[in-house]
Amino acid sequence: MSTHAVGLIGGDGIGPEVVAEAVKVIEAAGVSLDTTSYDLGAERFIRTGEVLPQSVLDELRSLDAILLGAVGPPVGSTDVPSGTLERGLLLRLRFELDLYVNLRPFSGVPGAPAPDCDFVVVRENTEGTYAGEGGLLRRGTPFEVATQGSVNTRHGVERCVRFAFGLAAARPRHHVTLVHKTNVLNFSGDLWQRVVDEVAASNPEVSSDYNHVDATCIYLVEDPGRYDVIVTDNLFGDIITDLAGAIAGGIGYAASANLNPDRTGPSLFEPVHGAAHDIAGTGKANPAAAIRSAALMLDFLGESVAADKVFRAVADFIVSDPDPSLSTRAIGDAVAERL
Ligand code: NAI
Ligand code: MG
Repeated sequence: MSTHAVGLIGGDGIGPEVVAEAVKVIEAAGVSLDTTSYDLGAERFIRTGEVLPQSVLDELRSLDAILLGAVGPPVGSTDVPSGTLERGLLLRLRFELDLYVNLRPFSGVPGAPAPDCDFVVVRENTEGTYAGEGGLLRRGTPFEVATQGSVNTRHGVERCVRFAFGLAAARPRHHVTLVHKTNVLNFSGDLWQRVVDEVAASNPEVSSDYNHVDATCIYLVEDPGRYDVIVTDNLFGDIITDLAGAIAGGIGYAASANLNPDRTGPSLFEPVHGAAHDIAGTGKANPAAAIRSAALMLDFLGESVAADKVFRAVADFIVSDPDPSLSTRAIGDAVAERL
């Protein structure tokens, strides 16, 4: 059995607590990890003024994978200027490591608004309105102008769409839905729709359709069973995955993978939730999202049997009607015991 070199970025708030449980569960699944912890996040920034030193980035590049908890100061804190960690750490890692697919699977849990839903969102992760194109002119004057462009390259759109079709081909329902706003965003939408049509033509075993993003917000609530694989741009993907997380069972369960499918460097795995300072240190954080993210990591590292076992153990724990007052550590133990 091979050992995987995994970087751990616990981060802030509940981040380190949920990452510790995820590592415990991976080890219980019999997978051998060689872990290195990296001190990054709001706390480090406040202490040292550093966000992501070049030497740390270089070290991260040499790893097999990265597991991240969450980074960020308490909401309302002014110690970290807005955007510092988002642009300087999270987006920088996505761009530098070419993590061009943000994969977010949703399977409903009992009691959720959509307990039976089972779909995956493939969100383009390096372009769109998040690429940083635009600027401010005459800032602070009555005549100021702010522009924030959406960058959509043939290369970037196509590789994301190809990934979505490849994923759909491996799932039972073989279906891809493009989510966009092609009727209004007629330049970027035109490119996305043409690319989907082309890739669909060369993947006849996968069916495809199209939904406007606003209609998708209705369908996710009223008819989520229509979705198998959704492919969408960076901003729409960010927004609809928060809604998807809410219908599937809440923020405590939503996992994500930031993938470099070409494997030119490590991929990064993280729960969708943030640092939740309101419950940090109380044992109230649900580690399930971090554990599921770790299972996505195992799968990507080629440990699909162990990944499957972890997904099943989490699902089994959830349907066991657990005591809602169980602590973070007790949930980690309960999942680990099932392996
Ligand atoms: P948040 O996700 O940290 O918390 C929102 C609400 O959900 C809170 O009431 C929290 O207690 C609850 N919650 C979150 N995760 C939970 C879990 N595992 N178990 C149980 N309850 C959970 O979002 P918020 O409050 O907007 O952000 C807090 C900090 O985290 C900010 O600094 C923000 O920038 C950062 N953040 C970081 C992210 C990342 O590292 N990728 C993502 C989102 C936010
Ligand atoms: Mg978000």
